Amino acid sequence: MHWPMSAKPGPASFPVKQDDVVPVDLEGVWEAMGECQRLGLTKPIGVSNFTTRKLEELLTFASIPPAINQVEMNPGWQQQKLRRYCANKGLFITAYYPLGGQIAFGNTNPVLTCDVLKEIATAKGKTVAQISLRWILEQDVGIVVKSFNKERLRQNLGIFDWELSQEELLQIISITQKKAARVQFMLSNEGSLTSVNISDIDIIET
Ligand SMILES: NC(=O)c1ccc[n+]([C@@H]2O[C@H](COP(=O)([O-])OP(=O)(O)OC[C@H]3O[C@@H](n4cnc5c(N)ncnc54)[C@H](OP(=O)(O)O)[C@@H]3O)[C@@H](O)[C@H]2O)c1
Repeated sequence: MHWPMSAKPGPASFPVKQDDVVPVDLEGVWEAMGECQRLGLTKPIGVSNFTTRKLEELLTFASIPPAINQVEMNPGWQQQKLRRYCANKGLFITAYYPLGGQIAFGNTNPVLTCDVLKEIATAKGKTVAQISLRWILEQDVGIVVKSFNKERLRQNLGIFDWELSQEELLQIISITQKKAARVQFMLSNEGSLTSVNISDIDIIET
């Protein structure tokens, strides 16, 4: 389940118009996904962009717990609270935007331009991307990183035979936190938020 968000049926438009957001039928969707698994139509089922609050709701009725929650995570958005929650519940996390994502929405990449990471990378003879990926790996989190460049693909695989020191880990924890995947990118300015759909949008933001 890609996002805990639903839009009115009809031709898909992105970003979603604010008036088109409807409450999510989480129980119905999860039941249908469980059925797909029981029928052998899919491998283990999981969620994405779920906050602790949304996971808590799902776990109240899920007969099959999600195998995974795929969320934005990197040294610039470390997901401390969500990671603690998922570890307690035995849920595995996978990080998207492990390198800060593609430079979108006019923002500066929070990972590749980070001074703390640059400093560590220089001291270790690694790239900033490798420091970020290695840090995620050391948090026992899976990684979905993307590159179309052969050299960078190779670089991104070179993270398995070295480790970060305690001091470096502490430096990374101190990095200022900023989320990149924000609700503004999902919703167009068209229409107006209502008390019904705002509770869903809230879920993405918290
Ligand atoms: N579940 C969700 O809601 C969700 C949301 C967003 C993304 N995702 C998934 O997450 C994955 C990664 O997302 P993403 O591509 O946006 O984020 P990303 O992997 O953090 O960033 C990829 C960007 O970094 C560049 N890059 C890759 N390796 C590099 C390196 N070693 N040094 C410098 N730059 C490097 C890539 O450009 P080049 O190709 O030119 O190397 C690309 O522009 C994708 O599979 C995507 O589908 C999931």
